[in-house]
Amino acid sequence: MKSGINRREFLGLAAGATAGAVFPQVVTAAGISGRDIRLGVIGTGNRGQYLTRVMLGHRGIQVPAVCDIVPEKAKHTADFVSKALGKPVETYTKGPEDYLRMLQRDDLDAVLVTTPMQLHAANSVAAMKAGKHVLSEVSAAATLDECWDLIRTVEQTGKTYMMAENCCYYRQVMMVLNMVEQGLFGELTYAECAYVHDCRFLSFNPDGSLTWRGKLHTNFIGNLYPTHAIGPVARWMGINRTDRFKTITAMSSPPRGHAVHAEQKFGKGHAATKNKWIAGDATNALIQTDKGALIEIRYDTSSSRAYNSTTHYLLQGTKAAYLDDGARIYIEGKSTPHKWEPRKKYEQEYDHPLWKKWGKDAEGAGHGGADYFTTRLFLEALRTGGKSPVDVYDAVAWSSIMPLSAASIRAGGQPQEFPDFKKNAKDG
Ligand SMILES: NC(=O)c1ccc[n+]([C@@H]2O[C@H](COP(=O)([O-])OP(=O)(O)OC[C@H]3O[C@@H](n4cnc5c(N)ncnc54)[C@H](O)[C@@H]3O)[C@@H](O)[C@H]2O)c1
Repeated sequence: MKSGINRREFLGLAAGATAGAVFPQVVTAAGISGRDIRLGVIGTGNRGQYLTRVMLGHRGIQVPAVCDIVPEKAKHTADFVSKALGKPVETYTKGPEDYLRMLQRDDLDAVLVTTPMQLHAANSVAAMKAGKHVLSEVSAAATLDECWDLIRTVEQTGKTYMMAENCCYYRQVMMVLNMVEQGLFGELTYAECAYVHDCRFLSFNPDGSLTWRGKLHTNFIGNLYPTHAIGPVARWMGINRTDRFKTITAMSSPPRGHAVHAEQKFGKGHAATKNKWIAGDATNALIQTDKGALIEIRYDTSSSRAYNSTTHYLLQGTKAAYLDDGARIYIEGKSTPHKWEPRKKYEQEYDHPLWKKWGKDAEGAGHGGADYFTTRLFLEALRTGGKSPVDVYDAVAWSSIMPLSAASIRAGGQPQEFPDFKKNAKDG
């Protein structure tokens, strides 16, 4: 590494990001102890490169191999990794199945799955069957069959599988979790969550052909990206712990935004304007939990809008309410009746213990530091042999909103039952 540049700057992380974390050496029989964790990467696009950089900011990491169908992307990643670690990195770039060859290596403990969403389940299942632990980008799966495939594979192989749902680790989300766990909200009765972000520009390659995001909107309907919205709410509501999703009812607005965008960007008559968009611009759904709580979840990445925040959360309990937009909170008995208070007032008192412990290290890592937590918690689970922080049951419960919302839309808004994904889970 060039002198005068510190390790974090070299990795492209802001100052203060992921200051080399020392992992507690609490090791069970299943944990990886006394040596580095060896990671492979499947998909070295935007997210793959970024998560690899965040991983390199942690101590005790090796990256012997990376894979992408675009050789330049794999090479770029291999180059910055080998400069950072001083070791060669092998690239696998011989087409869409070449990751299977990489998975045959016996010097990989785990893989990052950062390919397009449509491939996550297949990549993850193959990795676990090849004996590798998995950190998969969101969503975990696009169909119910893929959800069950993931579950079966985790249950059969015993590998650690984590979905990298970073929104669960936002400081404010964890603060609210802390407040919920301390009983400040009383019983949780209602929540709203949304992923609303004009992402149409990401649906097209420069020549007008469709990226994997564009293909999602021409091949699937429903909420196509549910986990950033539902993850924090599911955590607050104890989904898969003290409650479970029971039914979902969904409806969509018509698909218009992509067609308008294609014409503006490429001009009338261009091939990009001939696509048949099937996913409605907005999909709104209502989820009822087993205990009767109601969750409204909204998805819209196709409508023209200004950028504010991509996510929106509201939580309602019998004793308190939280509104992420405007960072407002109301706690009965503490707040002046009927008046919101700024969240800031409670931030110190209820800062989550994990943020108190690692907040400084997380500064500068992507998504407000949340990417630091996602990667670190995955590595901790590998080192300690502990439970996955976002395990396969959470991953499929949250991801299954995509196929189930689609089924509800096709049935004219009829409620769809969530499968009992945990029926064979060892911890019930
Ligand atoms: N958690 C977050 O905040 C967050 C943010 C952005 C994206 N994502 C998720 O990350 C994933 C990747 O998104 P992105 O923006 O990096 O997309 P991207 O298109 O930039 O990267 C995907 C990469 O996978 C490669 N690829 C495609 N097929 C492959 C195959 N068969 N084998 C190996 N490589 C293959 C592509 O060439 C590309 O480099 C998506 O699923 C997305 O939903 C998550």
